[in-house]
Amino acid sequence: MSVHASNPKKITTHTLLEMKQSGQKISMLTAYDYSMARIVDEANIDVILVGDSASNVMAGHETTLPITLDQMIYHASSVVRAVKRSLVVVDMPFGSYQGNSKEALSSAIKIMKESGGHAVKMEGGQEILDSIKRILTAGIPVMGHLGLTPQSIYKFGTYVVRAKEDEEAQRLIEDAKALEEVGCFAIVLEKIPAALAAKVAQMVNIPVIGIGAGNGVDGQVLVIHDMLGINNEFNPRFLRKYNNLHQHMLQAFEAYKKDVQSGDFPNATESY
Ligand code: KIV
Repeated sequence: MSVHASNPKKITTHTLLEMKQSGQKISMLTAYDYSMARIVDEANIDVILVGDSASNVMAGHETTLPITLDQMIYHASSVVRAVKRSLVVVDMPFGSYQGNSKEALSSAIKIMKESGGHAVKMEGGQEILDSIKRILTAGIPVMGHLGLTPQSIYKFGTYVVRAKEDEEAQRLIEDAKALEEVGCFAIVLEKIPAALAAKVAQMVNIPVIGIGAGNGVDGQVLVIHDMLGINNEFNPRFLRKYNNLHQHMLQAFEAYKKDVQSGDFPNATESY
């Protein structure tokens, strides 16, 4: 179904589980605003992630750390207003859940109440299990996120591939099992070796969605600005660019400026 039907069948966490069970790959993209989310939803992308990557691509910060809970809610509520079919997952921003489980629960409730999102995503494994459990008890679905977790960039010191060494790989496997056991409905694996990601996807029964994690997982996610080629300076190996919007937009803006300067725009048919 490629049209934006007025009453399409909504994607739920259960749909994603069924997709894994039947071997159908899950598509996920980020979106942070109404207009972009409408197009993503119209394209029948299964999951829209209101990622804290908004901190980078929307606000121009170097890391995801500065974005606030209220800013995430602003982005998420804009996305939710656009969506008819996709499952909307909202990133819990840095500092909104690491303190203690009570604080984590109140942040998650605020996101759900004020944005209308359908689930939250949290970075980390066993160290945040208490918070995840408490959020789940309130009936809020949680997506985990392991591997390269950008909120911990100052611990890692770099954005290179994670879990290449046995010890970190083993820890990631334990974390994935723990996230499944506690009740997460899916896990994102970011920038880890493809063989390890495939092993995790086979080991757990919940969907595993990769970014820079190879093809042996249950679905893929990309940051929308990256896959559209809006930032022509970001070219990691895992990124496939489906457009070169930087070039197209630049050309459009330059053409507009030329038409304004020459007086060609607006012409008679563009005037009242
Ligand atoms: O914030 C984000 O965009 C993400 C994806 C990279 C998975 O967490």
